[in-house]
Amino acid sequence: KKEDYPISVQFDFNTGVFEPQEKSVERKVSDMVKMFHDKTAVESMIKAGDPLVYEIFYYGFKTSASDMALGTTRIQPGKVGDEYYMTKGHFHEAFDQPEIYFCVKGEGYLLMETREGEFQAEKWTPGTISHIPPMWAHRVVNTGKEPLVFVATYHLAAGHTYTEVEEKGFLKCLVEKDGKATFVLNDKR
Ligand code: F6R
Ligand code: ZN
Repeated sequence: KKEDYPISVQFDFNTGVFEPQEKSVERKVSDMVKMFHDKTAVESMIKAGDPLVYEIFYYGFKTSASDMALGTTRIQPGKVGDEYYMTKGHFHEAFDQPEIYFCVKGEGYLLMETREGEFQAEKWTPGTISHIPPMWAHRVVNTGKEPLVFVATYHLAAGHTYTEVEEKGFLKCLVEKDGKATFVLNDKR
């Protein structure tokens, strides 16, 4: 079968795009209404054109015996109110599924949290590779002035669940205070 033969894609470290790819997905402010804490800023940004927050480029590398998905993400620089652009964030549905994230461009933080309330943030610069263990929700925040690009690998069997993060957020948010990225406690908690 064709899918059981090796395949390579060509990745651009600057743009985060690779070719060939199976699909790409765009996330705008209107896709993340519940995630950002300043609802007034959310509404006015949507009215002012609903800017792009991040894109995902994807290839599943499905074979007849397995899969190993590749997803690259490019988060634009920017803020909604004082809160930096970020990914939605999710848990994997399957309780035994980890993930590797590799930061190749930009700067920011990987936020991770368990259902028991343990929280950990990893500072990211180009070259940081993080292992996300099973059962840790994960979200990436771009605190820099250029796009943040990272590469992810995971099994399709992981599945994604967004509702818990949507309802509760992460323990801490990253906002700009006096020109600096600052952690503040999430006011939903
Ligand atoms: C897959 C994964 C990443 C994210 C991507 C977008 O398990 O963690 O490929 O899907 O960075 O973030 P979300 O999915 O949170 O919108
Ligand atoms: Zn994931």
